[in-house]
Amino acid sequence: MGSFTDTVAAVTGSGSGIGRTTAIEFADRGASVLVTDVDVDGGEETVAQIEDAGGEARFLEVDVTDPDATQEMVDVAVEAYGRLDYAFNNAGIGGAQTPVTEYDSDDWRSVIDVNLVGVFNCMKPEIAQMQTQDGGGVVVNNSSILGQVGFEASSGYVAAKHGVLGLTKTAALENGETGVRVNAVCPGFIETPLLESGGITSDPEMRKQIEGLHAMNRLGTPQEVADAVCWLCDDEASFVTGEALGVEGGYLSR
Ligand code: NAI
Repeated sequence: MGSFTDTVAAVTGSGSGIGRTTAIEFADRGASVLVTDVDVDGGEETVAQIEDAGGEARFLEVDVTDPDATQEMVDVAVEAYGRLDYAFNNAGIGGAQTPVTEYDSDDWRSVIDVNLVGVFNCMKPEIAQMQTQDGGGVVVNNSSILGQVGFEASSGYVAAKHGVLGLTKTAALENGETGVRVNAVCPGFIETPLLESGGITSDPEMRKQIEGLHAMNRLGTPQEVADAVCWLCDDEASFVTGEALGVEGGYLSR
């Protein structure tokens, strides 16, 4: 496991779930972490957990749908810590669970706005900053297994997550020689508040059915995703860019 001493990481949507666990993992490995979220209480709780463990973090309220806010995120990281080495663009919502024919157009747009436009809004200032600094940097976007295959009644989410992979590959090509690597993780179903709000973990029957879609017949943990994100950021992954790394217990092997 690589050390991130004297490095700086920013994680969107780190007031909960996968984002919180990844922010804590970055800090545990020695990075200073900028925790951002629309959920102020959740974000401050993440910072408190990092500080209690002896790490360095601060919180900034950032709505990823607002390009001024994502620019401010990068500016604050640089003002506070001098640079931005790693960015995990993780903030996301589940959206409606309804077929295409019944999906409200405004709801559909709002999933695209957070889950796809939000990633673009973050990447733009992050990569611009990383291109200017010695040693470049690494961007990791949170896509999903649903960035690679369809899932009934989730068209907004699935379209956004497929889009994140296209965006990741394109930025990787643009940055092949700039010292900035750009990758994505594609988690399977991970036990977080997002699944609870979607009724998946609260309904035992549905949980069993979803678990069974993975070859390992279980849900993943936020820690398993955090470890993959940190590996992609580490120098051990120095020849890895444009990759969509599955963390999915064999879901996509069927
Ligand atoms: P979560 O609901 O626990 O955390 C998501 C966080 O994003 C929350 O703190 C929320 O306040 C924040 N957020 C929502 N809208 C935002 C906005 N406009 N700006 C800034 N922050 C915002 O969910 P979880 O499961 O940790 O999800 C994190 C990411 O992982 C999402 O992109 C999700 O699509 C992705 N993912 C989750 C999977 C799962 O099974 N839980 C599977 C594959 C991908």
